Amino acid sequence: MNLEPGFDAHAALLVLVGEASLELAGAGVAPQVERQIGAGAARLWPQLKAGQLEVLRLVEQDAAVALLPTSAGEARRLGVAVARCARTVRATSIGVLGLEAVFAGEFALGVQLGNYRFTRFRPDETPEVGTVSIDNLSEEAARRCAHLASGVALARDLVNTPYNHLNAENFSEVARTVADAAGLELRVWSQGECEERGMGLFVAVGQGSAHQPQFIRLTYRPAEPGAAPRITALVGKGVMFDTGGYSLKPAGGMYGMKGDMGGAAAVLGAMQIVAALNPPHEVRAYIAATDNAVSALAMRPGDVFRALNGKHVEVTNTDAEGRLILADALTLAAQEGADEIIDVATLTGAKVTALGSDLAALFSNDAALAGAVRVAAETAQEAVWELPLHSPYLESYRSEVADLKNSDMIVAGGSVKAALFLQEFVSGPWAHLDIAGNALKEKDHPFGPAGATGYGAMLLAELASRP
Ligand code: BES
Ligand code: MN
Ligand code: ZN
Repeated sequence: MNLEPGFDAHAALLVLVGEASLELAGAGVAPQVERQIGAGAARLWPQLKAGQLEVLRLVEQDAAVALLPTSAGEARRLGVAVARCARTVRATSIGVLGLEAVFAGEFALGVQLGNYRFTRFRPDETPEVGTVSIDNLSEEAARRCAHLASGVALARDLVNTPYNHLNAENFSEVARTVADAAGLELRVWSQGECEERGMGLFVAVGQGSAHQPQFIRLTYRPAEPGAAPRITALVGKGVMFDTGGYSLKPAGGMYGMKGDMGGAAAVLGAMQIVAALNPPHEVRAYIAATDNAVSALAMRPGDVFRALNGKHVEVTNTDAEGRLILADALTLAAQEGADEIIDVATLTGAKVTALGSDLAALFSNDAALAGAVRVAAETAQEAVWELPLHSPYLESYRSEVADLKNSDMIVAGGSVKAALFLQEFVSGPWAHLDIAGNALKEKDHPFGPAGATGYGAMLLAELASRP
């Protein structure tokens, strides 16, 4: 899909936004089409609601009318509605007239996000939209939104791809392709190398798998660092599939666990966007990629492992694997000198109970960083809600045989306790996003079709590239 500034009056689907656009439609639109639009709009206009699109099926072209969006949120949703409409009327080109310049970029982003389809195993029969011409869209806004949308599409493709087509090694191959194309530095550590480095928790989770775990680091270095340089580390949970291990998940809870690498996917998508936006700060991605399997080699409840930071952890529940791999990734990010660390993880079912699957839970030990995450979330239109790091809850994570245990087997407060566990492995400014339920949806969601959402890719890119 190609975004173009301007208005193509010959597009298969004409979108007329705001009353003024109806008069302008004459500019280039065939007179008979304009007459039909005028008559149709006169009928539909009085009942139009904000963000709603009314479609007119015409003979040679189709048209849709909408009120002017009054916020970035409305503009994005209108764009998604236009993408859906284009599919319904099987349009191959879209011309949009009447949008204000401030909202044109968000609208265009909505069109691109709404147009996404995962076609790897089922070709899309609907004809593709070649060009979207949008009046008042600047070249710069078009470029920016194309970068954002392609980072989100990458994250969505990764989450939609099932485990039998995307294990940790496959993920690192994708990371290599992305790094090569975007000019990012890439380093991958094998299971043996992680063992040598002392990443005992990461290795423990991967030891039951038939496939090799991969610890992946990508680095973006600005061509020209800014006056106040900053190193941001993005840490992603990449559990390619979570069976729960010996603490096995029931069938209903296991389906959908191909999406347990949603954090890693968001981080890789964000790195691709960051490389394109070219901010004056260094950004590093730490992706802990493995899977949580059941096998003769898998970790057992009660096993004790040594973390990279030297602490010993008793694994009381093998299904609390995300915090284990993140713990070592956070330690490494801190050891390598990050000024701020943000981790993203499909971490707890308790988060879905608390906030549902639209909002992500935000935890942070630093008020300024938490504020920056909220601003980035607002801009990206990926909602977050802060929950407290209530330290007394950590008491139930004291083990009889080790420094910590990974679960107390009590669901109440589960997201808070998971975040407190992670906090034991960081020192400087840190924020944690629990995106359980956000990454993969069974039904169509506000910015796209059922399946992966790409949640977090835009938020992280906005955050890492802030001034
Ligand atoms: N990957 C799951 C969390 C999850 C649940 C993600 C639903 C997406 C949707 C995580 O590894 C997990 O199993 N967490 C356990 C932790 C518990 C054993 C302490 C959970 O939430 O039940
Ligand atoms: Mn689990
Ligand atoms: Zn998991």
